[in-house]
Amino acid sequence: MTQIFLDTASAEEIREFLSWGIGDGVTTNQKIFLSEGKVDFKQRVLEICNMKKEWPVSVETTTKGFDELVAEAQMYSKWHKNVVVKVAMDKDGVGLRVVKRLHDEGIRTNMTVMMTLGQLFLAAKAGASYVSLFYNRARDAGLDPVKTIREVTPYLRKRQESKLICGSIRKPEDVEEIVAAGADIATITPKVLRQMVFHPRTEETIKEFDDAWKDFAAKNNLVLPASTK
Ligand code: E4P
Repeated sequence: MTQIFLDTASAEEIREFLSWGIGDGVTTNQKIFLSEGKVDFKQRVLEICNMKKEWPVSVETTTKGFDELVAEAQMYSKWHKNVVVKVAMDKDGVGLRVVKRLHDEGIRTNMTVMMTLGQLFLAAKAGASYVSLFYNRARDAGLDPVKTIREVTPYLRKRQESKLICGSIRKPEDVEEIVAAGADIATITPKVLRQMVFHPRTEETIKEFDDAWKDFAAKNNLVLPASTK
């Protein structure tokens, strides 16, 4: 079954979804942290890491150049055992070299910002623990991310070294397509998760049943708890 990661750095939101039983991991990036406003970056990462005993929390590297990226990744990985270091795919292959080095050092990585099957394939070969397909950004570029998921998943399952994360999800229907295509993981924002639980027909049906119960109670002299009224 497709796992759900939480695509947010909001500790409050993560706690809420964990109380729903939702959340197998967390993904963050620079934009996600920007939307948090004033926050102590390291403290927030540690707070999220400590919310569950063992769960992957992706933290993205921000430096440029091989040595800088490796040093940054090593630093994050020392913060907490749950940290998975995000490294962006890039046109020069520096990201791949970094992923390969970190893999050799036993540091888990999430190779990110990928649009094509070829990129996912190379990231897996380099030793990324997670390979991230940016679902809607790929679609914006005229690609077919559903086809990509279907084609890459059997290869990844056979090799059993990397898991496919689908991010850049904008609406509940995207999640349905991603699950149907068989991806390992969908990373979903709080906004889309809240949209997923809602349907107007569900709300109307609940109201219809509540009204019927009130009629039944009135006809049978039942005393209803205050919360029913
Ligand atoms: C995934 O790891 C990313 O954090 C995220 O899903 C990117 O999505 P965006 O297209 O909303 O930036």
